[in-house]
Amino acid sequence: ATQPAETLPLRGLHVLITAGPTQEPLDPVRYLTNHSTGKMGYAIAEQARDMGADVTLVSGPVSLSAPHGVDVIHVTTARNMFDAVQERFMQADLTIMAAAVGDFRPVEQVQEKIKKNGRVNIDLHLTSNPDILAWAGEHKTADQTLCGFAMETQDLEANAAKKLASKHCSMLVANNLNTPGAGFAVDTNVVTVLKPGATPDEPIIEHWNKMGKQELAERILTELSALRNTDNT
Ligand code: CTP
Ligand code: CA
Repeated sequence: ATQPAETLPLRGLHVLITAGPTQEPLDPVRYLTNHSTGKMGYAIAEQARDMGADVTLVSGPVSLSAPHGVDVIHVTTARNMFDAVQERFMQADLTIMAAAVGDFRPVEQVQEKIKKNGRVNIDLHLTSNPDILAWAGEHKTADQTLCGFAMETQDLEANAAKKLASKHCSMLVANNLNTPGAGFAVDTNVVTVLKPGATPDEPIIEHWNKMGKQELAERILTELSALRNTDNT
């Protein structure tokens, strides 16, 4: 159903979203990945569309179907995702990085299947991937709004505060993997939301109640839309 224009707070805005895991090939039959389902990023994409935005979703491999009316770019590795984001970032008014990007990839992808050859141990040599959110934080202009996510298992506030500041985010949505109702493969989430405060050591921190991912998507976008309106006045 189409909503009247006054209820479309993101009308006319370009929203860029990353979602899902990445896959880093090890050999022709194996890869390194993580438990991300893409649900949070896809929920944000659908919600942004419903709020009137022009939405581009850069998605790692997930089993979700492409949301109607959203431009979906399918990628596999972190470097593919980085390329796709770099091509589109400058046109985006609002960028939300919900992807669980692999931090490391195998140094070399061998062309033939790795054989056991009677070995008991093997060493994997990994090298770091580009940090897509950090790149966006370095390159964003004053009228671009940037939202990151953070997944932590300990010291959530301190770790998330560091990410907010070091990646120059307008807002950071932090999850504790160990909180019941949060984390991978559940339909609810419990998040802590951080925004820059007076100094990098003192971000504004809000604890949001447990809610469904679709409701959380709406709250996040409403918050980002409000941030844009206060920033621009
Ligand atoms: N991110 C990214 N590119 C990467 C790694 C992370 O864009 N190579 C983004 C994620 O999409 C998320 C945010 O950075 O929005 C934080 O991701 P997270 O994995 O929690 O933090 P890292 O900075 O990778 O640090 P660590 O995994 O060591 O906690
Ligand atoms: Ca990481």
